[in-house]
Amino acid sequence: MGAGTGITAVLLVLLAIVAPSARGLDRADFPPGFLFGAATSAYQVEGAYQEDGKGLNNWDVFTHTHPGNIRDGRNGDVADNHYHRYMEDVEIMHKLGVNSYRFSISWARILPSGRVGGVNPAGIDFYNRLIAALLQKGIEPFVTLHHFDLPQELETRYGSWLGAGIREEFDYYADVCFQAFGDRVKLWTTFNEPNMFIKQAYMLGRYPPNHCSPPFGNCNSGNSQREPYVAAHNILMSHAAAVKNYNKNYKVKQGGSIGIIISMKFYEPLTNTTEDILAAQRAQSFEIHWFLDPIFFGEYPKEMREMLASNLPEFTQAEKSLLQNKVDLIGINHYTAIYAKDCVSSPCNLKTYEGNALVFATGERDGVQIGKSTALLGFYDVPEGMEQILKYVTQRYGNTPIYITENGYSQHSSNNMEAMLNDIDRVNYLRGYLSSISSALRRGANVRGYFVWSLIDNFEWLFGFTVRFGLYHVDLATQKRTPKMSAEWYRDFLTGSELVDKVQDLRADS
Ligand code: NOJ
Repeated sequence: MGAGTGITAVLLVLLAIVAPSARGLDRADFPPGFLFGAATSAYQVEGAYQEDGKGLNNWDVFTHTHPGNIRDGRNGDVADNHYHRYMEDVEIMHKLGVNSYRFSISWARILPSGRVGGVNPAGIDFYNRLIAALLQKGIEPFVTLHHFDLPQELETRYGSWLGAGIREEFDYYADVCFQAFGDRVKLWTTFNEPNMFIKQAYMLGRYPPNHCSPPFGNCNSGNSQREPYVAAHNILMSHAAAVKNYNKNYKVKQGGSIGIIISMKFYEPLTNTTEDILAAQRAQSFEIHWFLDPIFFGEYPKEMREMLASNLPEFTQAEKSLLQNKVDLIGINHYTAIYAKDCVSSPCNLKTYEGNALVFATGERDGVQIGKSTALLGFYDVPEGMEQILKYVTQRYGNTPIYITENGYSQHSSNNMEAMLNDIDRVNYLRGYLSSISSALRRGANVRGYFVWSLIDNFEWLFGFTVRFGLYHVDLATQKRTPKMSAEWYRDFLTGSELVDKVQDLRADS
């Protein structure tokens, strides 16, 4: 440690002791009862893919039949073996000091082949044990019913979300879960990021069932101009049916809340031309309004109707009345801000996530990045984006309680343990985004909770284990969990340690 570093260290210690909040972040800035947690999803962490009566799901089959589509050829067969190590993982959460844990239920563990095959008692038992372990440590379960995986049988039968029959399947599955776990689970979300995975599955053809058509891609089947909207329509109606059932049959008795989780980037116009300003609005519309407008206002957004014409389904009267069943919360997964460039006035590459809105998203303006890059292409560290998106959602959808259901930072996998554990960039990212939430709270945003993605390194879909989001490092050979600096930082922040900032700054200096 050099002389300069020593002085910095002394100053930081003083600063941390005297005024921890002066540096912009203090747990006391968040309202009492605010949930601080970490998140995972079933396929990404559980493993045990063929145990105790679980049926195969679409990701089991896809990763086995298309290993070349996964960056490292790996899959979720074992993942973090959370199915067997959940007690250790709950202990980790307890040590972190979180008061909530967001996880998803594996549909194929509960209903191995959908409605017809009946309920798998061992699947119910696993989640009962997990929930009991959480509650015993004072950790509130926050449950997602669908986080990309569903029984393969239903994928084969309905093309996942293309056939309307999937609505009854989801309604049935949700009912089994409300009935089995709702006496203890008070926070429910129907779908995780339908607006993202649908595009991956039916527009870009990358996620199962791998449907697409030009210009978005060349798949064996699919129609990128139409199928994403049919799938979304079925998801919206599946969601609405589950909400109706919950509101009618469970809410009063069980005293819980229900909502949906939407992936949200903050789009900033690349230039201040009218074209790019409109492009940013369009991108937001095709990403957020696509789902939340029907849920809040009973209609798809005007921009989508104009651009997609008959490819966008219409809501029947019966569907509209089903949508009247209101959600109690909005889940936001927010990771990045990005520039939006118009593709109507000048042609651009449309084989992208925003292509259907005729928008090209880029992280660079005049050669300068919007924020520090992270391991996932297109994900930048832009903390102000969080406050912007909270403002945006609050303005459009009113005062509905919001949970930040995911926010986190990815590193490239490496064998250099020191580099993996010394994740100062993640600490800075989390601190920046939490500060941005606290600023939004001061301005009146109704945010009720925050979940870091993720508790532990896990299977990152098409990227396999090549990128890692965990607060805890997971050694895939031994399954050993090791806290990264970010875990220590989060723990110190949550437990109110005044040394929270000191720890990370000293490490940064060393
Ligand atoms: C979105 C998804 O919900 C989650 O499954 C994924 O791992 C993270 N964000 C990071 O990409």
